[in-house]
Amino acid sequence: MDRNAPIGVFDSGVGGLTVAREIIRQMPDEKIVYFGDTARVPYGSKSRDTVIRYSRQIIRFLLTKQVKAIVIACNTASAYALDTVEKEFDLPIIGVIRAGALTAVHATHNGKIGVIGTEGTVGSGIYTEVIEKMNPNVQVTAKACPLFVPLVEEGLLHDSVTDEIASRYLSELKGKFIDTLVLGCTHYPLLRSTVGRVMGSDVTLVNPAYETAVELKALLEERGLNCEPGQAADSEKYRFYVSDLAEKFTAFATSILPRQVKETLKIDIERY
Ligand code: DGL
Repeated sequence: MDRNAPIGVFDSGVGGLTVAREIIRQMPDEKIVYFGDTARVPYGSKSRDTVIRYSRQIIRFLLTKQVKAIVIACNTASAYALDTVEKEFDLPIIGVIRAGALTAVHATHNGKIGVIGTEGTVGSGIYTEVIEKMNPNVQVTAKACPLFVPLVEEGLLHDSVTDEIASRYLSELKGKFIDTLVLGCTHYPLLRSTVGRVMGSDVTLVNPAYETAVELKALLEERGLNCEPGQAADSEKYRFYVSDLAEKFTAFATSILPRQVKETLKIDIERY
């Protein structure tokens, strides 16, 4: 495995860019190949089998770009597909759920943690399972927020419609007196200010992206796979692929990442 090869990062759409952003911050020497499955988003309302099939196709595509490791920057795909694909492919693959769970367990003081995510992630019960394994005394309340992803994909990050929907979804969690809330969908950190306002300043919001990047960095170093400095010019470090609407993605990615995204290529993911 070439230590100077890129890291593959994928999501159903733009949400995984919040994880890519954190990898760029913590590992500025690494190259990234990002794939956003914009033709087939959302994953959150699809079945386990479908999400596993999509994840396999994306990993096969990323392997054509000679990636050295893969980050499933999507909670739904991590919940449904990680266990399967890490057995099928011969390279390190990590998801975002363990990282989010660990951060929440460390952050809570009163032992009451909330998790918000897609119907798929919440329905799978995976956060509750992983958190309770880490600390059986913690009480987890999970709530699906299915309209958050389309609101983010539409760019309605600061909008009265988003405020209204957030208030409705989160009222149930407010009644549970949680002190920590996991943003269990990679799109949700983009709604952080809205969610924070509704939940109040006493609730710590956990973005699993940070801890995922920490985990990735440790993994690459342990396996001698961390990139040597100065391997690529900034303009060549990051490549973006989508399955639909490349221009829209490029504009969105530029607004999220610390540098301008010049080009996004559209590919036919069904071929893989
Ligand atoms: N961003 C994804 C996640 O973390 C999924 C959004 C979706 O496609 O439903 O779950």
